[in-house]
Amino acid sequence: MAGLQLRNVEKTYANAFKAVHGINLEIEDGEFMVLVGPSGCAKSTTLRMIAGLETITGGEVKIGDTVVNDLAPGKRGIAMVFQNYALYPHMKVANNLGFGLRLKRRPKEEIAKATEEVSHTLEIEELLDRLPKQLSGGQAQRVAVGRALIKSPEVFLFDEPLSNLDAKLRASMRVRITDLHKRLKAEGRPATVVYVTHDQVEAMTMGDRICVMKDGHIMQVADPVTLYEKPANAFVGGFIGMPEMNLVDATLSLEDGGKIRLGDQILDVEPALAERLTHPGGAITLGIRPQHLELVPTGTPGALKGTVRIVEFMGHEVNLHADIEGHSFISVVPSEQFDRSLKNGDTVAFHPLARHIHVFDRGSGQNASLGA
Ligand SMILES: Nc1ncnc2c1ncn2[C@@H]1O[C@H](COP(=O)(O)OP(=O)(O)OP(=O)(O)O)[C@@H](O)[C@H]1O
Ligand SMILES: [Mg+2]
Repeated sequence: MAGLQLRNVEKTYANAFKAVHGINLEIEDGEFMVLVGPSGCAKSTTLRMIAGLETITGGEVKIGDTVVNDLAPGKRGIAMVFQNYALYPHMKVANNLGFGLRLKRRPKEEIAKATEEVSHTLEIEELLDRLPKQLSGGQAQRVAVGRALIKSPEVFLFDEPLSNLDAKLRASMRVRITDLHKRLKAEGRPATVVYVTHDQVEAMTMGDRICVMKDGHIMQVADPVTLYEKPANAFVGGFIGMPEMNLVDATLSLEDGGKIRLGDQILDVEPALAERLTHPGGAITLGIRPQHLELVPTGTPGALKGTVRIVEFMGHEVNLHADIEGHSFISVVPSEQFDRSLKNGDTVAFHPLARHIHVFDRGSGQNASLGA
């Protein structure tokens, strides 16, 4: 049984730079937790503190019931795949994979069986007789993942383990790792996973829960659906979702049941939303996902008027970039509903789906449209 607990964890590096600002995070036994956030937000630093490769300068890290702050990495019951993994250069792939088990003096047959299983899972069976220098970057990375998997520890720490793979292989490895995690759980051998990535597709598809970080702070911890539907703040709203959420400055007033003023245009908000808003009107950031900004015939009452800027044909849908009151917006339109004669400068109208409008307080960035 090994859940993880981070309590007020801080990291100040030797040069006095504070990378982690007192974060609190609880990861359940057997949970797949993804740490996601932009480059430099301290994902690796956090992971390395859990692993014991970086000192913890404040707070406490617990694995299971043990405070591990001063415990050596080898004693923490974890296996880690680094961002910059290194294989043993003089050992063939098979021996690289089995190394951890050989150290533990496991029987030869067991090592052979585990090597076979892991290499099958990661599609590296053909590489077992090669040396690391005879592998491509993506192949070497899969061997590094295999070396961690084979140890079947209670806690796996992954730091962008798929970053060197091409898109197709990446998608297939993503499914395999998630599958493996589910299988271990079903077999009664749950593994706790902390998985660092800056790829939001990986985050959304792999995580039981996702922890979104920014500048050494946690912005929100939630399951993928909650994160997408109820972003706690403008940062999470903008970070999760593709194309990015439209975020623009606007003004809110509660007259006549709630209105948002965007330049010269006015948007009615849902009555329920107006009731929940606590501040008496003023500076907000309006958030509307491109999927929720519906293209409607010009002249539709209550619609926002805009001008076409760029049309990106994506295949099954079109990303329509438009200018509304000097702000650029993106609307995702299903290809079959898209009028192909639309061109730059044409006037268009959008109907933002009222129940999907997010109102972020421009001061705090917090999502004011989240109900209790
Ligand atoms: N040894 C160090 N000394 C001082 N500052 C450091 C050190 N290592 C990292 N940092 C800083 O700490 C912050 C967090 O770095 P970290 O590597 O944890 O980010 P990250 O979220 O993993 O980013 P990426 O997605 O680019 O891997 C960054 O601002 C980085 O410059
Ligand atoms: Mg990193």
